[in-house]
Amino acid sequence: MRLIAPQDQTLIGESPAFLEIIDQCSRAARHDRPVLVIGERGTGKELIAARLHFLSPRWERGFVQVNCAALPENLLESELFGHEAGAFTGASGKRIGRFEEANNGTLFLDEIATTSQSAQEKLLRVTEYGTFQRLGSNKTIQVDVRIIGATNIDLPTAAGNGNFRHDLLDRLALDVITLPPLRHRQEDIMLLATQFGQRVAQEREWLSFPGFSSHMTDALMQYHWPGNVRELKNVVERAVYHAEDEFDPISIIEIDPFQSPFRPAPQSSDAALSTVVREKSNAVHAAKPTDYHQAVTILEREMLKNALMHHKHNQREAAKSLKLNYHQFRHQLKKHDLL
Ligand SMILES: Nc1ncnc2c1ncn2[C@@H]1O[C@H](COP(=O)(O)OP(=O)(O)O)[C@@H](O)[C@H]1O
Ligand SMILES: [Mg+2]
Repeated sequence: MRLIAPQDQTLIGESPAFLEIIDQCSRAARHDRPVLVIGERGTGKELIAARLHFLSPRWERGFVQVNCAALPENLLESELFGHEAGAFTGASGKRIGRFEEANNGTLFLDEIATTSQSAQEKLLRVTEYGTFQRLGSNKTIQVDVRIIGATNIDLPTAAGNGNFRHDLLDRLALDVITLPPLRHRQEDIMLLATQFGQRVAQEREWLSFPGFSSHMTDALMQYHWPGNVRELKNVVERAVYHAEDEFDPISIIEIDPFQSPFRPAPQSSDAALSTVVREKSNAVHAAKPTDYHQAVTILEREMLKNALMHHKHNQREAAKSLKLNYHQFRHQLKKHDLL
């Protein structure tokens, strides 16, 4: 079980896009019908689902969560709908499913797009009539459950490709809340970063949180955050845990903790280059590099900038870390206009 400190549940943000989501969430919480929460990974879908529940008339009842991607097809169905003893090999005892557990409350189906056709068929029935059967039983069970689904894929496209039932999508899409990626709500980046930094400073029993250097602020603002708030949280927490002096503004940012000269070689060099460039580069934002030279230039520049950051702008140390001599390093800095 995951214990969540109350502060961890707080949604933070002040950008217009975020405030609009909060408004939409308050409106949707009241109507007691299914809601879909859509957004890239790490945008806060789980937090929004919890908010929908706790603002709804069902708030005192159960909030049951199932990650549909975490279970293989057949186990998911028994997890959701329960089973009778002997319903399938290994089903020794009877089991109450999550729908029964969530009766009169809310069931949050995370990663709902990964469900099988057979599970979708059962979900359709339960959203339409509130009825289902435990696996291995003929008895129809009636429940009153509000469903909140979440996914990071485009469901209409999935439905168009035959991977998600149109009728289920129509049922669930009574209200669709689409969370904006972090890069589209710039106003929230430093607000969130400061909040996450303050929490770690508190844990480390610092007198106060020294904030971020202007260099780090720039880096945080420019990065395109493919992993959204989750990634920002991890980057900031890492930076504050590693900081040595509680009175110095945080100045070292490490976006990719796996970066190392000894990192295992990726399977395909193409994929590797595009990942490194996409994940590491502040400069390319969401765009993929279009040609080899451009990709290499971006990668070189990022390596130089990172080395400088890691070594607090000590050029000799930074050069050493890249196995370049001082003159080669300076030459590269000049070439990339970083001097
Ligand atoms: N607006 C926000 N304010 C504070 N923390 C947030 C916010 N959005 C996301 N988080 C944090 O980011 C992490 C990822 O959020 P989560 O809801 O699990 O994202 P998703 O389900 O979309 O992948 C969690 O630690 C969550 O607490
Ligand atoms: Mg999630």
